[in-house]
Amino acid sequence: MVKNFIDIDDFNKTELDYIIKLAKKIKKKPKIFSNLCKDKTLGMIFEKQSLRTRLSFNIGMQKLGGRVLELNSKDIGFDNKRENPKDILNVLAQFVDCLMIRNDNHQQVVELGNQNIIPIINGLTEHSHPCQILGDFLTIQEHFKEYKDLKITWIGDFNNVLISLLHLQNIYKFKLDIAVPKKILQTKNPEITKFKNQKLNFLSELKDAAKQSNCIMTDVWLSMGEKNKNKIKYFKGYTINNKIMSLAEKNAIFMHCLPAKRGQEVASEVIDSKNSVVLQQARNRMFIQQAILLYVLEN
Ligand code: CP
Ligand code: NVA
Repeated sequence: MVKNFIDIDDFNKTELDYIIKLAKKIKKKPKIFSNLCKDKTLGMIFEKQSLRTRLSFNIGMQKLGGRVLELNSKDIGFDNKRENPKDILNVLAQFVDCLMIRNDNHQQVVELGNQNIIPIINGLTEHSHPCQILGDFLTIQEHFKEYKDLKITWIGDFNNVLISLLHLQNIYKFKLDIAVPKKILQTKNPEITKFKNQKLNFLSELKDAAKQSNCIMTDVWLSMGEKNKNKIKYFKGYTINNKIMSLAEKNAIFMHCLPAKRGQEVASEVIDSKNSVVLQQARNRMFIQQAILLYVLEN
């Protein structure tokens, strides 16, 4: 069976712990791992913009001794007009050992994974962003000794990053308070029911969500490919500023996957503050993805 990395909820705690532990080892002693992907090639397809994911996979794979090839989806015919995706994947498998995809078609990523030809890694879809959240969990573990007693807070849109965070919370069961504008939450009711557990709260008052939090997390109000640009009006009062941060614990960290829209979801006074760990998050993407690559490529 080929191993994929498509969603956090495809894994159990033991498997995720293994990947996180491996990432910590790679970060501590990178030289030990510098040859492990010798003769392996990672293919990458970005149908949407990317700075962090592109750099961290590319440099991360090279640091493991492997090669990276960026492919243009249209050029290789992934729009299903020239030949079918299974035939393309079979040909790709003659040259690359693993394929990372970022697109607006989660179903396609799942279907490619189900082909069981080469490992498929989800580099962000409209549905989820698992590499981001696992890297963020590594960052959280570097700041706090015990994640079980933490209260994490999400303030912002109901989007792909939040879905992956919900998957993670369902496995690790840390306390998670979520403040999403009511109008947006209403449209998500069927999705929310799946995630219910005692340590997960959807709150309408964002002050309650921020209170005594150890970690305040947010993301852009309009994700890439978002069609409903009008929804931005629902975020009045949702900008994370010093006032909101002051409700949290004194040593609370601020997290954002980036790119950020300063002045919208976060004020500069917060993203530039000493409690902000956004650059550490960006850097940790590399270690977690190196671990993911080793995990899916190992026989
Ligand atoms: N956080 C993140 O995935 O950044 P990019 O969109 O720049 O890859
Ligand atoms: N929710 C954002 C994440 C970017 C890394 C988006 O999809 O645009």
